[in-house]
Amino acid sequence: VSPYLYKYKKRSFLVNDKMRPKDLDDLLDFELRPTDVFLVTYPKSGTVWMQQILVQIMDTAHPEQAEGLNNRDRVPWLEERSADNPFRDRPDPRMFGSHLPFEMLPLDIKAKQVKVVYVWRNPKDIVVSSYHFAHSWVLLETPKSFEDFFEQFLDGDVYMGSWFDHVKEYYAQQDQVNIHFVQYENLLKDLRGEVVKLCAFLGKDLTDEAIDRIVDMSTFKSMKNNTTANYKDLIEKGRYKKETMRKGVAGDWKNHFTVAQNERFDRVFKEKMSNVPITCTWEI
Ligand code: PPS
Repeated sequence: VSPYLYKYKKRSFLVNDKMRPKDLDDLLDFELRPTDVFLVTYPKSGTVWMQQILVQIMDTAHPEQAEGLNNRDRVPWLEERSADNPFRDRPDPRMFGSHLPFEMLPLDIKAKQVKVVYVWRNPKDIVVSSYHFAHSWVLLETPKSFEDFFEQFLDGDVYMGSWFDHVKEYYAQQDQVNIHFVQYENLLKDLRGEVVKLCAFLGKDLTDEAIDRIVDMSTFKSMKNNTTANYKDLIEKGRYKKETMRKGVAGDWKNHFTVAQNERFDRVFKEKMSNVPITCTWEI
């Protein structure tokens, strides 16, 4: 077990993070407004990408930047701001980001039918992206080897716990929660089509020109050069060592997995996701 992680409610949280069990519990009673929008992901599933899309859909008046804020300030992490949340009093519509499992989100999500956008991605690519991220974020333990990290991921002994549990739990909530699922690979395949679906979910009636602009501003290339979107400031602040905008492709796992690892991953996936009718249409 990693000395960088502590377990709470079967999840792995960072020892050096600000969140302690009491802070996590307090979040349950965090009061929401029906107009709030939540962006929820398992880490490395496309959060930063969806932040860039959401801020533009929700705030057409400031497509690029609002009052000098970067996307992290416009879609602040719920779990980074607990007791004294400076974003509590923001004007509507407020947006929040979270990696937390469903049972740790504010109870108002269900009670007030708050909109949730859940982005998920081929877990094989998440293993690879997380492995590289573990060499970047100073709070994470640097993996001894890819083999080691691969096993930790399958065991859920990584930041935010098991990918399998995360996806399964949100999937199970789809009839009770106002949730819209977006697949990272579909964003790669048809970004415009996914933006149009998001607008419908969020109740935003945008012009074709506005949608074209959102698409242009949300490509990997465009975001890589946009300091309000790409988290590069965290490198300057010494929190990250490498760029979050790493490769932005589907299928990089093929450059990292051995044949045996791939077979093992498929076996575990089949076993753990047997009750979830998720079709693994990841290849593009
Ligand atoms: S985090 O740290 O959990 O918030 O990371 P997250 O943003 O969820 O995931 C980072 C990966 O998303 C890729 N990304 C993109 N891919 C394609 N197009 C765009 N516009 C884009 N923006 C971010 C990013 O490159 C990370 O994936 P990898 O595979 O590491 O490149």
